[in-house]
Amino acid sequence: MNEEPLVNPEVLSMIGDWKGYVEAKLGFRNHWYPIRFSKELAEGQLEVVELMGEKLLIKRIDGQVYVMRDRCLHRGVPLSRKPDCYTKDTITCWYHGYTYRFQTGELTNILAVPDSRLIKRRKIVTYPATEAQGLIFIFLGDEDQVHDLKKDVPPGFLDEDRLVLGKHRVVNSNWRLGAENGFDGLHIFIHKDTTLRHYRTFNFPIGHTPLPGAVQVIEEEDGPKGVMDDFALHKPVWDGVIDGEVVVSGPRSTQIKGTSAAAGTSIWMPGVLKVDNFPIGGLTQYEWYVPLDEGRHLYVQTIGKPCKDEQERLSFANDFEAIWKPHGLDGFNADDIWAREVTEPFYQDDYGWVDEMLCEPDETILEWRRLASRQGRGIQQKSDLR
Ligand code: FES
Ligand SMILES: [Fe+2]
Repeated sequence: MNEEPLVNPEVLSMIGDWKGYVEAKLGFRNHWYPIRFSKELAEGQLEVVELMGEKLLIKRIDGQVYVMRDRCLHRGVPLSRKPDCYTKDTITCWYHGYTYRFQTGELTNILAVPDSRLIKRRKIVTYPATEAQGLIFIFLGDEDQVHDLKKDVPPGFLDEDRLVLGKHRVVNSNWRLGAENGFDGLHIFIHKDTTLRHYRTFNFPIGHTPLPGAVQVIEEEDGPKGVMDDFALHKPVWDGVIDGEVVVSGPRSTQIKGTSAAAGTSIWMPGVLKVDNFPIGGLTQYEWYVPLDEGRHLYVQTIGKPCKDEQERLSFANDFEAIWKPHGLDGFNADDIWAREVTEPFYQDDYGWVDEMLCEPDETILEWRRLASRQGRGIQQKSDLR
């Protein structure tokens, strides 16, 4: 079949040791991705979601979440156009009655052709799902590749005492521009006027460059793979100067230690950022850039806090609703969202990957691109969507 390649071959031929990353326009297969919060899917509820260019149905049956591709084997129509669930475990195509079991994907019946030789011999694509820390994760990949969720989340995320709260929204940019915006130490420049300044004292330089030792690559066999950037080992820039005049300054407090609002960031496969001590000391922000299709990602924003009892959980939940959600996830991160969406056109035809002109601190972004190219367990191709 002759089809347009997903990524421009001329661009690919110009990229060196992070070519796999440029190829992964639709994301890396064989990884776990959060797609909804558990509380968003009640018992018996059916939802349509997208992931890496695939349209999927998710349903909760007897507490378990099941994932099935939203495309009838017969003539390729979306089952979700008119979901007919005659039994709790099955969905029947509204067109000619092909009926599939959620748990296995098996074609259990064809209601209009009960004797068909296809029955029990064919399967619709299904994917494993699991739940952790209040999120529903889907493993988008091949059955023989399924691995432990702990390899696809940042260290500490699954700690039992950690309460994780958050929200998600669709951002109109490729997932990689999300990941790079989050991990980009230099983009601190955009946050100098953040609304969050009104809710805590900030040390926020207008820029900072990692000194030797700040950036560490983690590739241990049994754990998550990522790149860590320690802001304590950065050289900050406080004032922006043009023609000898200071034109802009980062908010600086003499009362707090450290050069930056956060202690550091790290990014982990398959595209999840951890921001230490943010939006305030003792909290950790975890955020995913889940590929929906070539030009959109699901921004899953969460904040976690270790809580020793119900009292602490309640108090964190209150602060989350009253402060951290409106002023952190909505206010502060609004800057990130518009930046990604405005960056998208430059990279849309892939030439951005060779036309960009990165500078010294951007070396950390290149480190991430190289790591992702080495550690991605597969690249989602157009042929995977068939
Ligand atoms: S298209 Fe689904 S049963 Fe015919
Ligand atoms: Fe940001």
